[in-house]
Amino acid sequence: MTELLFRGATVYTPDGPVDCDVTVSDGVITSVGPSGSGHGKVVDVSGKWLLPGAIDVHVHSRDPGFPEKEDFGTLTAAAAAGGVTTVIDMPNTVPAVDSAGVLEAKAALARSRSRVDFGLWALIRSTSTAEELVELAVAGAVGFKAYLGYSFSLSRKQVLHALDAGDPDLEAPPDYGTLTRLAQVIAELGLPLAIHAEDPGILHSFRRPLETYSDVLAARPAEAESLAISASASVARQHGVHLHIAHLSSALGLDAAGEAIAAGTRLTLETCPQYLWRTEADFTRLGTAMKMNPPVRSAGDRQALRDALRREVIGIVATDHAPHSTAEKAQDLEHAPPGTPGVQTLYLSCLELAKQMGDPWLAARWVSEGPAALAGLGESKGQIAPGYDADLVVVDPKQSTTFSPRSMRSRQKHGALEGLKVSFAIASVYLRGAPVYANGRLSTKPSGRMVRPAGVPIA
Ligand code: NCD
Ligand code: ZN
Repeated sequence: MTELLFRGATVYTPDGPVDCDVTVSDGVITSVGPSGSGHGKVVDVSGKWLLPGAIDVHVHSRDPGFPEKEDFGTLTAAAAAGGVTTVIDMPNTVPAVDSAGVLEAKAALARSRSRVDFGLWALIRSTSTAEELVELAVAGAVGFKAYLGYSFSLSRKQVLHALDAGDPDLEAPPDYGTLTRLAQVIAELGLPLAIHAEDPGILHSFRRPLETYSDVLAARPAEAESLAISASASVARQHGVHLHIAHLSSALGLDAAGEAIAAGTRLTLETCPQYLWRTEADFTRLGTAMKMNPPVRSAGDRQALRDALRREVIGIVATDHAPHSTAEKAQDLEHAPPGTPGVQTLYLSCLELAKQMGDPWLAARWVSEGPAALAGLGESKGQIAPGYDADLVVVDPKQSTTFSPRSMRSRQKHGALEGLKVSFAIASVYLRGAPVYANGRLSTKPSGRMVRPAGVPIA
């Protein structure tokens, strides 16, 4: 039995920060108590902060499918270095995760490469059946993802950043009809339905060549987000589905979500550091690293999202870590694919934002507690408390970090937060009691396990 005693840190407990000892036995937290009360091999973390590992509920590993962009090894190296001890991977890998068999094969692959724990989202296609969803749940999916504006290539088994243009190889994106048809089984399974909330009708009407960043904003107006949220929420409310809005980007979308919540919809909201830190003005400096769907918008949108986070209307910050190769991103605005990496900078950027809001400890709620509840992991992860996994992040509050390409572990080094300076540093990271990152170095072997939501029957 391995016993560890973390001594000297200020610990983020469910009741707030406390100076205390944390003991760990065989990867599980056994006590959180006054100094001198525990025993075990001492880990001296004097003067540091001890935080629960982050759970990034929105990453794109690209594995299998696009090794030139990323794989589970590089994704989770970046995650570990940034204090993210669980990643929940999106289903737009190739083949897309639309059946239990594909999910199981992807899980086996991820297990062989992952340096942190991982969970898997399942894909909803316009042709998905209730039986397929049940099988995906039994295979361990944390929930279902519907890309409202994205077609599906039948020959490549791939989700495309394109609307259906009459090509027989392209299956139409899932629509509100698909969600209505599958709502009952999703509600019965009790798993969240996550949506990429951009209404295809609006995207279609506002389509245009993308020459400037103003074109990007005009092509993907906030109405696309607010309409997708209102329509999906009305379906979810009718059937008692837990609807989760991925990467909320606009004040208008937030208003629609607020109305849906007031009307009684079971709705959770996620936004990303890029929408909380950047505005349209940053495009001149950052270029295509800033191209993503939905787009980063105005300073007013950013302020509305920050306020909603402070009011706890938005409960989750995830990254939408979506790396593309440097050659792809070097293309012009029209052709560069949308998406930007971010998993490594999640925790520190949130600590800095929370500090600027007056309470840095809020960050642990946004990246750990809130996400754990969404992924059905609220009884095993997301807190520093007895019985929880010892996923621990040691933060140095006296050392600053500037996000620079040099220190990024993802295959794509340039993200939307490049250049941001924060007044914290990640000192070390533990996954179920074992060090996975310390003093700039990663541990040598992958030891990630698959997580499954509590309460879903196992095959
Ligand atoms: C994502 C990707 O590249 O997979 N891109 C993006 O701009 N966000 C897809 C997505 O999450 O919509
Ligand atoms: Zn998306």
